[in-house]
Amino acid sequence: MSNRPLRIAPSILSADFARLGQEVKDIVDAGADYIHIDVMDGHFVPNISFGAPVMKAVRGVTDKVFDVHLMIAPTDAYLADFAAAGADIITVHAEAGPHLHRSLQAIRAMGKKAGVALNPATPVSAIQHVIDDCDLVLVMSVNPGFGGQNFIPESLNKIRQARALIGGRDIDLEVDGGVTAANANDIVAAGANVLVAGSAVYGGNDPATYGPRIKAIRDAATSLRA
Ligand code: DX5
Ligand code: ZN
Repeated sequence: MSNRPLRIAPSILSADFARLGQEVKDIVDAGADYIHIDVMDGHFVPNISFGAPVMKAVRGVTDKVFDVHLMIAPTDAYLADFAAAGADIITVHAEAGPHLHRSLQAIRAMGKKAGVALNPATPVSAIQHVIDDCDLVLVMSVNPGFGGQNFIPESLNKIRQARALIGGRDIDLEVDGGVTAANANDIVAAGANVLVAGSAVYGGNDPATYGPRIKAIRDAATSLRA
């Protein structure tokens, strides 16, 4: 279990893009802590979402933390664009290129928090030599590329290993993919403190449901285990 604050980070990948600014406002009003922004290039992952200009267009609607998850390769050439567009945390994939250490340093040099994401098949040991260059570790609990997939149960073991590697460092442990009110307690018990939720919050795109859904995830995550 982490002693860091719990953060619920709805993913705008499942928002109604025709009303994106309003969807971001609605999720903030509903109690989101971070805004999770999934950038996909159709190369590193088999889907294309949106890039820095779209993110910049919604930067004006809230001061909440923009938690930017780059599922792109290569990454380094685009880091400055996302920093300029208003990212607060920029997360790159450990699998996206041969120079992860350079990417993390470049993000910090721009004054942003540096995150590293691990695909389901990538071991936690892949980041042991860069852990002090990270502000956030993201454990992918689905194969990245699409919302609405089922949580991979083995991810819980990986979250425990990542928590052990982080130890007492000032690093967030984020979990992304298939997070729901039904598994939030197990995920937090394993050591995560940032929960991404796409379809579990935005599914159906009815703003009236966002508040109760975020609350359900938060309540489940913080409830004492029987
Ligand atoms: C998957 C993305 C996730 C996705 C999560 O590639 O990184 O952030 O939006 O969606 P759900 O919560 O529906 O699995
Ligand atoms: Zn994501």
